[in-house]
Amino acid sequence: MTDQSGTGRATMPAGHNPVLERRTVENANRNLLKYLKPGLSVLDVGCGTGAITRSIAEKIGPTGSVLGIDPNQNLIELAKQQAGDTPGLDFQQADVYAFDTPERFDLVTCARTLQWLAEPELALRNMKRFVKPGGHLAILDFNHEKISWTPEPPGAMKLFYDAFLNWRQDAGFDNAIADNLKTLMHFVGFDAVQVEEQFEITRRNDPDFSIASRLWAEVAELRGPQLVQDGYITENQRLEAIRNYDNWIATVGQSMTVYLLAVESQQPL
Ligand SMILES: C[S@@+](CC[C@H](N)C(=O)[O-])C[C@H]1O[C@@H](n2cnc3c(N)ncnc32)[C@H](O)[C@@H]1O
Repeated sequence: MTDQSGTGRATMPAGHNPVLERRTVENANRNLLKYLKPGLSVLDVGCGTGAITRSIAEKIGPTGSVLGIDPNQNLIELAKQQAGDTPGLDFQQADVYAFDTPERFDLVTCARTLQWLAEPELALRNMKRFVKPGGHLAILDFNHEKISWTPEPPGAMKLFYDAFLNWRQDAGFDNAIADNLKTLMHFVGFDAVQVEEQFEITRRNDPDFSIASRLWAEVAELRGPQLVQDGYITENQRLEAIRNYDNWIATVGQSMTVYLLAVESQQPL
């Protein structure tokens, strides 16, 4: 099965989403900091609940503008509610493949979204159209195959994680997309492509270790029911993964390193 439309496996379940909500430019998209100056125009593709988008709006100020797009109606509604009347901040329900606008942006950003698309090259091709000459396209994404934990997490969580990657792969999503983005950027017509490591490392001594490392328990809570429904794990296996992983965090867990790359290029003048 492929999933080009943002429906099916790419769809975020409705409800509270702590993973998306605690993100800011500083803690989750710091590759953008070098671009974000007052007055900039920005398109944030796959904005989710708009936490990073709001953080972008703060940095570019009232003379700037940022439009967040996402096909998920629930997330866009939440994003609009939380935006209040922040000047220059707007959200629109739209799919990256179909989105169109006459506007051209100084910066088009797309974080942790191509990992959910079966046709990332097509998505990049469309996003490139919206970058002004001299503007930038900045992609941030994972290689889920290169995550590491010290020590290894419990078997039940490994089982969940492997099932999660298989479930994603069977839907046509590239688990290693971060390492394939440079090639894809060349395919869609960018010459010079910069790649920068944006690993997210959390260590036991960090004040937020128990929250940050809990990412995979949250994925098992939020996404896990979809895996159970699709027959990749049982409900008991899902619950055991959460329980044992929470115990790992509380006892022996030392660190977790999530592999993320920022892959960026400039639109020719
Ligand atoms: C992991 S979230 C990332 C949210 C945010 N960018 C961040 O980094 O926290 C992935 C987002 O991609 C969105 N998405 C899925 N399919 C999409 C599509 N076809 N076009 C645009 N966004 C899509 C999902 O609805 C979801 O909000």
